[in-house]
Amino acid sequence: MRNRLTLAALAAFAIAADARGAAAEDLTLYCSPQIEWCDLMVEAFTRETGITVAMTRKSSGETFAQIKAEASNPRGDVWWGGTGDPHLAAAEEGLTEEYRSPMLAELHPWAQKQAEQSGYRTVGIYAGALGFGYNAEMLAQAGADAPACWADLLNPAFKGEISVANPNSSGTSYTMLATMVQLMGEDAAFDYLKALHPNIAQYTKSGSAPIKDAARGEVTVGIVFQHDAVTQRVEGFPIVTVAPCEGTGYEIGSMSIVKGAPNLENAKKFYDFALRADIQSRAAEAKAYQVPSNMGATAPEEAPDFSTIKLIDYDFATFGSSETRARLLARWDSEIGALAN
Ligand code: G6P
Repeated sequence: MRNRLTLAALAAFAIAADARGAAAEDLTLYCSPQIEWCDLMVEAFTRETGITVAMTRKSSGETFAQIKAEASNPRGDVWWGGTGDPHLAAAEEGLTEEYRSPMLAELHPWAQKQAEQSGYRTVGIYAGALGFGYNAEMLAQAGADAPACWADLLNPAFKGEISVANPNSSGTSYTMLATMVQLMGEDAAFDYLKALHPNIAQYTKSGSAPIKDAARGEVTVGIVFQHDAVTQRVEGFPIVTVAPCEGTGYEIGSMSIVKGAPNLENAKKFYDFALRADIQSRAAEAKAYQVPSNMGATAPEEAPDFSTIKLIDYDFATFGSSETRARLLARWDSEIGALAN
């Protein structure tokens, strides 16, 4: 009798566990910003809707590759965040679903433009300017002048002291590649990246890893979005954020619904939720300091002030096109990535 009861209890437990397992399939989220913000979004969404979320954090280029690889048997529902270029490339390749959220009218023109430009297959959720950050203590030890410009990063005093991501996996690093091409012209941009190579300690997978390395004193400089450098400063590390003097590019962090999403209705619910002012205003709780796309959202106090940054007129149509992206990445592999092997 006792055994039977135990068995019955076990069976009930197994059924409950199963139900939880099934519920975990309510929404599959591919998340590309910092993990703390991904976790906050999942928690807030589940709390409000009761919809459980299976989330994985992967960099922008990696997520793009995954959605492409899964196209014949889609597993993801929503791709939230990460740089806009691969979202635009995914839209162009028909990997994402058209959706006109009722929230669109509340968004800044730059976020709406991202939607229009993609035939409503993606939308802007935040903006962030590229730059770099340096560890002031490490700089003092090296006795080098504080870098203020992209050109300053070529200083031989920074040999092996700079970290940047690999543009294949990281949208941050692809933004840097596209920024250099727009600032200098393509051949000069590759000459710059080649000249920078001796100073690069490693090409990381994730875009924000370089500034975490600089914060820990493993390198002096991390090339990242400026708001990622601010996060490390807020964490208490001696990181100084730099808006490069020559000018710089920026991202329109984006969101897309996967074509053939298994949970399309829940995907739309998440999409509308993520565009809301009150939800976007919560980013600072996760120390995410991007500029939010909803006009009613409160930009974090710490967010870098765009009006003081020399921004280029980033050409999203060109650099978000599949053809340009694939061509620049192939050139990076053969001219820069090959040097790292
Ligand atoms: C960081 C930034 C985001 C950016 C993302 C891209 O999390 O804070 O603004 O969209 O990096 O990540 P990736 O790893 O693709 O460079």
